[in-house]
Amino acid sequence: MSKLALQGGKPVTKNLIGTTQLISRRDLERRYLLETFDKGPLDDWPGAKSTAAAFAAEFAAFQGARHCSLITNGTHTLQLALESLGIGWGDEVIVPGMTWQATASTVCDVNAVPVLVDIEPDTLCMDPAKVEAAITPRTRAIVPVHLYNRLANMDRLLAIARRHKLHVIEDCAHSHGSQWKGHGTGSMGVFGSFSFQNSKSMRAGEGGALIMNSKDLYGVIESQRCCGRRFPERPKAQMHSGNYRMTSLQAALLRGQLAAMHRNAAVMDRNGQALDRAVAAAPGVLPMRRDPRITRQVGYCYAFRYDSEAYDGVPLVTFRKALAAELSWDFFPAYTPLHHSELYTPHTKRRHQISAAYTRAITPSRWKLPVAHDIWENRAVITLWQIYGLAPSRAHFLSDAIAKLHENRAELRKLASK
Ligand SMILES: Cc1ncc(COP(=O)(O)O)c(C=O)c1O
Repeated sequence: MSKLALQGGKPVTKNLIGTTQLISRRDLERRYLLETFDKGPLDDWPGAKSTAAAFAAEFAAFQGARHCSLITNGTHTLQLALESLGIGWGDEVIVPGMTWQATASTVCDVNAVPVLVDIEPDTLCMDPAKVEAAITPRTRAIVPVHLYNRLANMDRLLAIARRHKLHVIEDCAHSHGSQWKGHGTGSMGVFGSFSFQNSKSMRAGEGGALIMNSKDLYGVIESQRCCGRRFPERPKAQMHSGNYRMTSLQAALLRGQLAAMHRNAAVMDRNGQALDRAVAAAPGVLPMRRDPRITRQVGYCYAFRYDSEAYDGVPLVTFRKALAAELSWDFFPAYTPLHHSELYTPHTKRRHQISAAYTRAITPSRWKLPVAHDIWENRAVITLWQIYGLAPSRAHFLSDAIAKLHENRAELRKLASK
């Protein structure tokens, strides 16, 4: 039995990826950046011929939607989407209990109540049965998140929304390039919300995009991101707002990255499936369930599940640390479920304390999310999108490392108890 890397033994590999199979078009990023710098405009004004306008059109086409508005970040995208639909005081919006805090906090930002529902244990996306059970006469919208490396069950969620006359806003911060039955994520709901924050698979430091098919809503969003201005071509589309525009400098980087993503998306999908096979072949772990309706899966992260019973009770945190040491690669916990999250505390903000009843309604501890809690505490192993650069011929490193940990589970237990 070989000694654990955590105990000074030889790691399974010191170079997991070798040469990444993902291409980058930094040449294009630089070219678009310099062109924008030299010729301008630096901003993104509706109707102007800018790098931002070019990228917005290309990104909408890539995700399969008619329109795209570029917005400051993937938090403001959600806020503007809710506002444009007239969602606010007195309304409820259903969101998954495991997600980044913005999915829920933006609902509070428009004075509505986020209703947190539990997730499916094998996809980590919102459970449609829990969504249906959470609908009340006040419900106005559902916000599915295509989390990590899986997509929410769009067929069921869209059917529920149709039946109950609800809006669907897809939170696609993790799913640039993914497709459900050939439809790009974000193109199936009334809006698709994307983040270009620095850790994402397409990134510009910060940034966001809303895609949509409705020309009317596009008009409202264009007004909203421009301080509520009226534009001559869309005179009726006006709503009080602020400045939520992205810049052409950010769009220049994203335009180059989109050119790379056109090729990388299929590679990430193929390599992700090789990772799933490696996890399936390893002891005491399970890949996430891939719905056959997913026609392309491009994850922001790669996630799989750990079963501590198969490791005689070795805690998840020890498993993750030991795996990181064997592969010289970082592994993370899942998002803290929102009813426990340090970053999701809307009831502490004075602006949100509209009434005692509202404060109670938005206090996260009122929710019970046993599946999300179990996944976070005991099961989820997460790593970032760069792992999709791993060639299928090297995916065995992952199963080799896991098998080594399983063989050494008695040692791991001792380490955990120290
Ligand atoms: C699921 C999800 N929604 C929304 C956001 C917010 O995006 P941004 O950081 O661009 O505001 C993020 C960012 O990590 C996210 O992961």
